[in-house]
Amino acid sequence: MADVKQGSYLKYGMLVAVVAIITFVTTWLLFNVRDRKDEAREVSFRLADITKETIDPAVWGKNFPRQYDGYKRTVDTVRTRYGGSEAFQRLEAEPALARIFAGYAFSLDYREERGHAFMLLDQDMTRRVKEYKQPGACLHCHSSVIPAYRKAGDGDIMKGFEKVCAMPYTDARKLVDHSIACIDCHDPKTMDLRVTRPAFLNGIKAYMKTKGIDNYNPNTMATRQEMRGFVCGQCHVEYYFKGDGKLLTYPWMNGLKVEQIEAYYDSVGFNDWVHKETGAKVLKAQHPEFEMWNQGIHSRSGVACADCHMPYMRDGAVKISDHHVRSPILNIARACQTCHPQPEAEMKTRVEIIQERTRKLLDRGEEALVQMYDEVKRAKARGVSDAALEPALKLQRKAQFRLDFVAAENSMGFHAPQEAARILGEAIDYARQGQLAAATAVK
Ligand code: HEC
Ligand code: HEC
Ligand code: HEC
Ligand code: HEC
Ligand code: HEC
Repeated sequence: MADVKQGSYLKYGMLVAVVAIITFVTTWLLFNVRDRKDEAREVSFRLADITKETIDPAVWGKNFPRQYDGYKRTVDTVRTRYGGSEAFQRLEAEPALARIFAGYAFSLDYREERGHAFMLLDQDMTRRVKEYKQPGACLHCHSSVIPAYRKAGDGDIMKGFEKVCAMPYTDARKLVDHSIACIDCHDPKTMDLRVTRPAFLNGIKAYMKTKGIDNYNPNTMATRQEMRGFVCGQCHVEYYFKGDGKLLTYPWMNGLKVEQIEAYYDSVGFNDWVHKETGAKVLKAQHPEFEMWNQGIHSRSGVACADCHMPYMRDGAVKISDHHVRSPILNIARACQTCHPQPEAEMKTRVEIIQERTRKLLDRGEEALVQMYDEVKRAKARGVSDAALEPALKLQRKAQFRLDFVAAENSMGFHAPQEAARILGEAIDYARQGQLAAATAVK
């Protein structure tokens, strides 16, 4: 009996001990979870007072150290097969470009873009600024410029924007001292996403009008998901400087597709430069990421720039947006696999298959263009008049703008694969038509 009793005391004791341990562990876990939840809730540390004049990201970084940390990492230098952040000279990588941009500043210096931290420095350094007169309008997308606009316009940002656009670059440059900063995408009071760039506000308003929406204002009318693309669309877009005031303008009055943009330029009689080899009045496309993405399946499915270029990440118990904006190829696990279950290597291959196909079509397009220039030059050498060559030169303008629309877009086709192929198909066709027109102009 005693043995049995002793045994049951022992069992009882063990039970108490187990219960005590379980209670302890559960309580500890509960506290730990609560701590972590508190940590997660603590998105801001509120040490610094941020106002609409606070440009310096280091000050914002006191309140939001995690995002600041990522932002600072945009100085990295990593090359991917068709992109990445190494600022190599594109003119050396692609000799055809020197002929395509003959007579234009881009034939001097045209680099692969790199991280956000460098945008002001790279603009200061390029031969396109050092050796050509550029307007203050350049700074709109390369600096934290809104407080300068506010000051130049006596409180009216739109007015200041117009003034600064018209200034010579060297004068306007004195008004700014920082690359893109937190204040360019966030409301300093609420931290909500917002768009601040006047040219984007004007451009998106014109575009929405084509869809029957008047007086569109993204800051009050866009969804949160739309804002996750609009903040990037402030700068990653096609643009031109309108008139003598050099007013920075996004050519979206007919829509965002290449032929709609071209139709706008035709309607206002705009050309970027006169091609040195042929005399054609031609256009240069600039980084139309926003426009191309708009034509792709991800945009149709509601996937925004930030989903791939600023994906969510965990830092302790906190879920934050990765402010290290960069190529998603360097970050496939977070950028793609949240939605696509395929292995990393497979996702990388899918991107590279699209890019390689685009690159091959681009090569053919460049070849077609260059052969067309040769045909036009031959015709000129045989005394064919400019008037007789006019049809060929018009076709050059069409071919060249389409080719460049894909070449200057920075995803090498990925943002909208089939649209990129369609545009390049047209480019090649127009170039060959132009070549034929030049050949038949020789009597
Ligand atoms: C579905 C994911 C996805 C979305 C959405 C997306 N991108 Fe991309 N983006 C990519 C991939 C993949 C590349 C190719 C990167 C490479 O070749 O290294 C790329 C390339 C780029 C590049 C060149 C990067 C480099 O390192 O050379 C820029 C700039 C860019 N995208 C901007 C944007 C903008 C702006 C938007 C929204 C208007 C956007 N992207 C939407 C996936 C995406
Ligand atoms: C609408 C916004 C916008 C305007 C205006 C703008 N840029 Fe840029 N710029 C960008 C974006 C986005 C990139 C990165 C993508 C790329 O390089 O294609 C870039 C890249 C660059 C680069 C690095 C790559 C290269 O092309 O060598 C230089 C230099 C540059 N811009 C100079 C200028 C100059 C000079 C002007 C004025 C004539 C100007 N930018 C006006 C948005 C803009
Ligand atoms: C104020 C204008 C501006 C805004 C807003 C902006 N960008 Fe950029 N972005 C640039 C410029 C300019 C460069 C090129 C900088 C250089 O080459 O020095 C660039 C470069 C990049 C690159 C290339 C980085 C690399 O490592 O090669 C990516 C990717 C990119 N931007 C994506 C985005 C995304 C996504 C957004 C929105 C969340 C965005 N950008 C918002 C102007 C802007
Ligand atoms: C090019 C635009 C851009 C810039 C510049 C930028 N952010 Fe963001 N930020 C975003 C986007 C996009 C999100 C996601 C917001 C959403 O989905 O509602 C975000 C989210 C945040 C959030 C909310 C929590 C999170 O991580 O999702 C904080 C806080 C934040 N950013 C702080 C900063 C700070 C601090 C800086 C400057 C060091 C900064 N951001 C610069 C675009 C930007
Ligand atoms: C937020 C979710 C989301 C993210 C993040 C995302 N995708 Fe997608 N992706 C989609 C959806 C939705 C589709 C359309 C699929 C459908 O409707 O069948 C798609 C389609 C695709 C396609 C087929 C494209 C075509 O034209 O048919 C490819 C390739 C692709 N994604 C690659 C990527 C890569 C690479 C990344 C990361 C850089 C990525 N996706 C990130 C949701 C996402």
